[in-house]
Amino acid sequence: MPVLASRLSAAAEAAFGTPYDPELRAATKPEFGHYQSNLALRIGNAQGLPPREVAARLIAELHIDDLCEQPSIAGPGFINLTLLPATLAKAVNEPETFASNGQRVVVDYSQPNVAKQMHVGHLRSTVIGDALCNVLQYVGYDVIRQNHVGDWGTQYGMMIEQLLEEGGTAESLDLEGLQHLYERSRKHFDADSNFADKARLRVVKLQSGDPETRASWQHMVDVSLDDFDKVYALLGSKLARADVVGESAYNDDLPQVVAELDGQGLLTESEGAMCAFLPGFLGRDGSPLPVIVRKSDGGFGYSATDLAAVRHRVSTLHADRIVYVVDHRQALHFDMIFTLARTAGWLPADVPAEHVSFGTVLGPNGKPFKTREGGTVKLVDLLESAIAKASVSGEATARAVGIGAVKYADLSSDRGNDYVFDLDRMVAMTGNTGPYLQYAHARLTRLLSKADASTEVTELKDPAEQRLALLLTGFAAAVAQVAETLQPHRLCTYLYDVASALSTFYEQCPVLGSEGATRASRIALCTATRNVLQDGLGLLGIEAPDAM
Ligand code: ARG
Repeated sequence: MPVLASRLSAAAEAAFGTPYDPELRAATKPEFGHYQSNLALRIGNAQGLPPREVAARLIAELHIDDLCEQPSIAGPGFINLTLLPATLAKAVNEPETFASNGQRVVVDYSQPNVAKQMHVGHLRSTVIGDALCNVLQYVGYDVIRQNHVGDWGTQYGMMIEQLLEEGGTAESLDLEGLQHLYERSRKHFDADSNFADKARLRVVKLQSGDPETRASWQHMVDVSLDDFDKVYALLGSKLARADVVGESAYNDDLPQVVAELDGQGLLTESEGAMCAFLPGFLGRDGSPLPVIVRKSDGGFGYSATDLAAVRHRVSTLHADRIVYVVDHRQALHFDMIFTLARTAGWLPADVPAEHVSFGTVLGPNGKPFKTREGGTVKLVDLLESAIAKASVSGEATARAVGIGAVKYADLSSDRGNDYVFDLDRMVAMTGNTGPYLQYAHARLTRLLSKADASTEVTELKDPAEQRLALLLTGFAAAVAQVAETLQPHRLCTYLYDVASALSTFYEQCPVLGSEGATRASRIALCTATRNVLQDGLGLLGIEAPDAM
């Protein structure tokens, strides 16, 4: 609770001359009250004083009797605080909200590749990215979504040239057709150097804007984006066409990017390619690792595009913070891009650039999730089977529960870890799952539909109600923490704690079975809990059906 923190900080200033951050934490056990601070231990350490004595001096200067019971000192010098029921009730009745923080954050996520099916890696990026955008917006950021679609490079030259040789037209191909075309052109390219040369010329035509080449390419992009949109719709993703700023969008900036780097003396020629070598980036064998900004054939690659994107995001989009939701295998790539962009002056020191890295989705065999033939599992099929597994009635509810189950499973484990795609576990109604939380919400909704509206918590006598109320007051802090750490699983854990406290509350405290002020207050507590579950699931991008 912010007010407690500032009072403790003021006490530290009065007693010891420095307004330390009290680092208030939720108490680890009910007998320790509601909050704990280790401030006295830290001051004791810093000033060479016995911590329990420091704690006593802090408490003497601490004016909180309007909010808390008399503070106590525990163990080596922890300060324990217990809120008065009225303080707790007020905090539940008046939830903290966030004002605009005047900051703009750019979030790069989803990023599927044209002419290829989206795979489970793109599912992760989309689900995590959506949740982070919601959270960042909630805490006051102005959020700009950027879907950095892979739509540029040698392979499109190969594909268009292959199509011309076969006498086919791009118009006749759907996404699967495009994928097969890609495979044929790849083989052809590797086997026939004459074709490879033609394909390279085709890339040059594409990059320089030859109308026919561009038209074929545009068709491939459109077909792919239509398919991605289907997945987004099924997922309930907030990504729109307007958020697509693919690799091709930076084409015209690339020569300038390279020229600027060269002008700053940051580039070295190496085997015909233009490279930046950054101090501290070494390969396994100890040799310096290059960022290749222009390849030996004169083409620009993935790195040059990412440099142009950073530059654009800072100078044109005015980002104060940039977030990239991309799998962990690209960690080194982003480390090098950010370092080079800072060196070149495109990414100022006060604009953080963060790689929100995530682990691999595994199949039942513990290996990266693929079809039996080793191909990409179609996301639409995967999501449809989750919907079919959801054991609830009604099409819309099954959709909400099936999709919610997949999203929650993805968001609730620490994103750095790999996880096994296990639909049975995901859709389970018990344990830390999406359906469990959705059910808690639906059950509350049903209870509240039988009660008169009441929005004021006035009494909190039972420990189970106090525990639930205390958790509810932590919602804003939990969301703020996700905005800072970019770890959505913390919000999942928080919501799961709320749902667990709710079920203890149901066991201990009759709601509709009680009377008068107690009944009204408990109805209000249920309403507040319902709001937290609904808002929390909403931030995670998960629907909260009213019945299931
Ligand atoms: N399209 C790439 C892939 O599927 C991910 C792009 C990530 N974003 C970026 N700015 N590089 O692996």
